[in-house]
Amino acid sequence: MAHSKIIGTGSYLPGKILTNQDLESIVDTSDLWIRSRTGIEQRHIAAEDEMASDLAVNACLKAIESAEINVNKIDLIIVATTTPDMTFPSTACILQNKLGIKDCAAFDVQAVCSGFVYALATADMFIRSDRCNTALVVGTEIYSRLLDWNDRSTCVLFGDGAGAVLISKSNHQGILSSHLHADGSHYNTLSLPGNIACGKIQGKPFVSMEGNTVFKFAVRVMEEIVHEALSENNLQISEIDWLIPHQANIRIIKSTAKKLGLPMDKVVTTIAKHANTSAASIPLALDIAVRDKRIQPNQYIVLEGVGSGFTWGAVLIRW
Ligand code: UT7
Repeated sequence: MAHSKIIGTGSYLPGKILTNQDLESIVDTSDLWIRSRTGIEQRHIAAEDEMASDLAVNACLKAIESAEINVNKIDLIIVATTTPDMTFPSTACILQNKLGIKDCAAFDVQAVCSGFVYALATADMFIRSDRCNTALVVGTEIYSRLLDWNDRSTCVLFGDGAGAVLISKSNHQGILSSHLHADGSHYNTLSLPGNIACGKIQGKPFVSMEGNTVFKFAVRVMEEIVHEALSENNLQISEIDWLIPHQANIRIIKSTAKKLGLPMDKVVTTIAKHANTSAASIPLALDIAVRDKRIQPNQYIVLEGVGSGFTWGAVLIRW
């Protein structure tokens, strides 16, 4: 059976930075509250004319450059996003056009903050079943447009950004296993309960969240999913070199690491500078750790996400 491995990574953050201090003049909040309750110091905000596909293009060009491949070798594009450019066509098709790729399969996946893990698992399965050779897998989000900037319980939490990886068929088994879950009985706990009907927005078009419920659920499944991945590969937690979790709250990340018995110096965190970028948070963090050379050949890495749905999942990689 064919295997897949990551051959390039890239990421992009929009230029505008919104600090916690900036937010103090927008809503009734404080730098101290945001920092101590979430670990967030700042977030990047997309320009008015930037779309999710634009953020994605910038991240993809860096991934393509680092993989040193011709774009026309890409025969699959999967974009994980909750903030597509349009209701349709998919952001993957718009991205394909912007990258000048002539013909390949292209589609979006919608698994909110677990979207990148879902997309990477899907691309790996395409490669392992010989349906494609080189896949571009992207997480790109502009959450700043989904937020009610009068709601301090949500608007301080999110940011915009994009991350991308290229994976290709390989003799080296890079992606060892993937583990995906969903429990739709929680669909109302973290949602954007709006849609387009008859040319109008129906429902509330802003992020709505029962923060405490999401927090408790995330802490439980973020631990469970790592054990599931370790068990399938007969690995111990002590053999994991890097955990790259979804970046929603530093307290969730720290308690996951503690429950796993993993020291925080083996956990990649970007929450302070990026805030929660939903489907983009994991590939953004991965790219940063690859480029600063923390990630080295043959290391074991767990990527794990949790988000609205609820959805959650992990991908275990031998770099
Ligand atoms: O990416 C998908 C997954 N998302 C997550 O994993 C998010 C999970 N949830 C969380 O990270 C946390 O629950 C939050 C950061 C959202 C909230 O933290 P918390 O420690 O659970 O705070 P809380 O909601 O229990 O609120 C505590 C207090 C409340 O005031 P009272 O009722 O105690 O007087 C809130 O009104 O903090 C207040 N509060 C704020 N105060 C200042 C809520 N937001 C703010 C704010 N600034 N921005």
